[in-house]
Amino acid sequence: MRVIRKGSQRKGKSYILKRPFVVATFAMTVDGKVTTRNFTPVDFTSREDKLHLFRQRALADAVVIGHTSLRRDNVRLGIPSELQKARIKRRQTQAPIRVIVSGKGNIDSQLKVFQSDISPIVIFSTRRMPRKYQLTLSKKATLHLSDGKHVDLAAMLQTLRKEYGVRTVACEGGPTLFRSLLEHDLVDQLNLTVAPYMFGGANAPTLTGLSKDFLPASVHCHLVDMRVVGEECFLTYRIKR
Ligand SMILES: NC(=O)c1ccc[n+]([C@@H]2O[C@H](COP(=O)([O-])OP(=O)(O)OC[C@H]3O[C@@H](n4cnc5c(N)ncnc54)[C@H](OP(=O)(O)O)[C@@H]3O)[C@@H](O)[C@H]2O)c1
Repeated sequence: MRVIRKGSQRKGKSYILKRPFVVATFAMTVDGKVTTRNFTPVDFTSREDKLHLFRQRALADAVVIGHTSLRRDNVRLGIPSELQKARIKRRQTQAPIRVIVSGKGNIDSQLKVFQSDISPIVIFSTRRMPRKYQLTLSKKATLHLSDGKHVDLAAMLQTLRKEYGVRTVACEGGPTLFRSLLEHDLVDQLNLTVAPYMFGGANAPTLTGLSKDFLPASVHCHLVDMRVVGEECFLTYRIKR
């Protein structure tokens, strides 16, 4: 597998290319929490919601996740076989490529995602990734390591489009990554499941994380679909521009 190092060569043609369409999918409690204060794996939604997440993932060319959600939830980011078959019928690959975002880069190569070869894994991180992690992870994934403390998410999306042919991204959070995408105006659609619980807790993250700061500008959503199944409400919003 490849390790790709990127400096600040972002002014070239790739920046002019259209970025992929970004769809984020989340479940939250009635009081807006996406997890507990202990960041335990999300298990407050129904089987229908879990299927909904798989279906959304299966529609995309790439599924993108932040390092903490990957580590906490230890997900493989695959899709069930019937959704794989449906993708092949649609002339897509068997499953979306799996994309991990991390600034520090200390990603455990024993995580379940690396034990499944359903689709290629691409890691966007920085040169802060320790050398020993670079060596291990480069055997399991393609690494894109850039300068700076954080991953430039706009540049990441351009790379996904240009180098991997990605037109649709399914972002599965978590809230920190989602907030960064929102701050850079990089989200096009939000699929939101409201589950019939309340957690409370100032230390339990909401959809936009734990930051006390307002977003640089309010994000205006346009409701395009609303479905009630059992006691959950499945909302689809387009982000207004
Ligand atoms: N209810 C839901 O639908 C839902 C969905 C997803 C997740 N969750 C929950 O959310 C919790 C995790 O949330 P979280 O906000 O802490 O985690 P997160 O967004 O999954 O991950 C945050 C980490 O991702 C990396 N990251 C994000 N943006 C980056 C950027 N621009 N550049 C470089 N690195 C970036 C950093 O990794 P490094 O630390 O490696 O630098 C950062 O610490 C988990 O408990 C999970 O279960 C809930």
